[in-house]
Order: sequence, then structure tokens, then C-alpha cells
Amino acid sequence: MTKIRKAVFPVAGLGTRFLPVTKASPKEMLPIVDKPLIQYAVEEAAAAGITEMIFVTGRNKRTIEDHFDKAYELESELASHGKLRLLKEIQSLLPDKLHYSYVRQSEALGLGHAVMCARPLVGDEPFAVVLADDLIDADVPVLRQMVSLYEQHASSVIGVQTVPLDQTNQYGIVKPQSMGVRIHRIADIVEKPAPEVAPSTLGVVGRYIFTPEIFDHLEKVKPGTGGEIQLTDGIAAMLAAHPVLAYEFMGQRYDCGCKLGYMEASVTYALKHPAIAEKFAGFLATLKLDPQVQLPGTMSA
Ligand code: G1P
Repeated sequence: MTKIRKAVFPVAGLGTRFLPVTKASPKEMLPIVDKPLIQYAVEEAAAAGITEMIFVTGRNKRTIEDHFDKAYELESELASHGKLRLLKEIQSLLPDKLHYSYVRQSEALGLGHAVMCARPLVGDEPFAVVLADDLIDADVPVLRQMVSLYEQHASSVIGVQTVPLDQTNQYGIVKPQSMGVRIHRIADIVEKPAPEVAPSTLGVVGRYIFTPEIFDHLEKVKPGTGGEIQLTDGIAAMLAAHPVLAYEFMGQRYDCGCKLGYMEASVTYALKHPAIAEKFAGFLATLKLDPQVQLPGTMSA
């Protein structure tokens, strides 16, 4: 079986749910405490044994390339001021074994199109796709859980979780056939169905492992929901010829592409960060006790 060596990070999206901050900055560079979202995504892929990181970028995304590049001036400044811990942290972003490459998606034609743009860099081998704005806090990194499953079944694996019925229209939704604990064979998959027609409430979250056949199917996909080339439609086209598994991963997912999910992730990660956890917890406790702090809905007229 071919090992998963490559991960594709589609980062060309406009981040409209997070305007105005995403007007000139990529949403993938939003920090959760002290690391940008895209770094969490890359670290998750590296923890799954992946060494080739492929970014599908667009306009306004140059800071992502800079983040994963050597920063000579910064490094020599840190070294000359004896800030060795920080220097080590900066350098750890670029271990020798990881390679970064970039391909441009010049038109926002959809997630399926973004994945297609990576085809020349992926070639004819299985690969992962990671959406950085789905941040998943897990004891075992989710991509590693999924790589294990791929190694057992040699088929594509899609990460899913149960979503509220009234939110099926925000996700790819699968029609599952149970194969065991947390694992289903996908009988069908639909992009953003209304609750009345959704085949289940198992929603696709931004983690995928694909066998390379996905490219042939994506190539034939016509614009679907929102007029875009949908990755979901490529998966649906693949089902008849190749089994695709849905995996209910272990972990807590935060939708960092929207303001609420981003704030929930920020608070959770701050409460775990060794440098600030204790003081931040103390600060939150004062908020709860402070009668001056009122939530908008609770304010007296
Ligand atoms: C994309 C996919 C959708 C998936 C979602 C997960 O949608 O098209 O199938 O459920 O990511 O975050 P988007 O959120 O980009 O509209």
C-alpha cells in the first residue's frame, strides 16, 4: 500500500464569513493564541507522518508562504539577543524533513477545483486534504486517526461529525451504511442539503484522505451548489467505482472560519497554553464575578 506522504491545504478562499479582518489578510493566518490556524493544520499533517505540504493559494495569501519560509533577519536578531528559545521555536517550523510547495488557484471556482489545482504536485498517489479553518483538538491528531483507517482499508476516508439538523445546509452530508464503531461506508453524499432532504446529520468536516482516482472524477464534475466545482460532487461520482469511508473522528472541532467558533477555539486553547493558562483562567473567573460585565441579551433596558 502507498504511504500517505502529501497533504493539500486549500487556502485560496476569500474568508467572507470573517470580514473585515480577512479583507487583506488570509483567514488561515488568524492566530489561535500564538500560532496561525495554518500552522496547526501543518503540524497535524506532520504528526500523521506527512512530509510534503502543498498549498493551493490565491491573491492576498503571500504571508502564508512567508510563514513557512526562512526568516534570516528575524533569526539573526533573535540569535544576537540570546533569545534562543524563540529562535528554536521559529526554526522548528522548517524541519529538514518537511517540504512546502505552492500552486495558485487564480479563480475562486470551488473546493473541488482547488483540489484539482494540486494534481500536478500530488501525482498518482493517495493524499490528504486539510481545511485549516476546521481546527480539531484531539489527543490523537485526527489525520493520524484517519491514516490508520486508510492503512487498514486502502480506501478514501472522509472525516465526519454529527451536526445539528438545522445546519445540514452548511456541510457536505453523507448517507452512511454502518461498518462498525465510528466507521461507515458512504452510500451517497450531498453538498449542503436542506434539513428536509438531508440523508442524515453526519456532516463532513475538513479532513479527507483520497486515493488518486478522485482527480479523474473531479475533472468531470460540473458546477454544483453555489455555482462552484464541489469536492463533494467529485466524491459522489467516485462512490460507484471505489468505496469511500466516513469516519466519526475523536476530537473537538472548532469552526474557525466564523467568529463564534474562532472565539471558542481561542478561549479553549488559551486555557491549555502553558504560558498563560493559569492567569487566563483567573481572568475569566473575574469576568464571571464582575457584576459590571453584562451579556447583551441580559442588559436591563
Ligand atoms: C466545505 C465543503 C463541505 C464541508 C465543509 C467543512 O464547505 O464544501 O462539504 O462540509 O467545507 O468545513 P465550506 O465550509 O467551504 O462552504
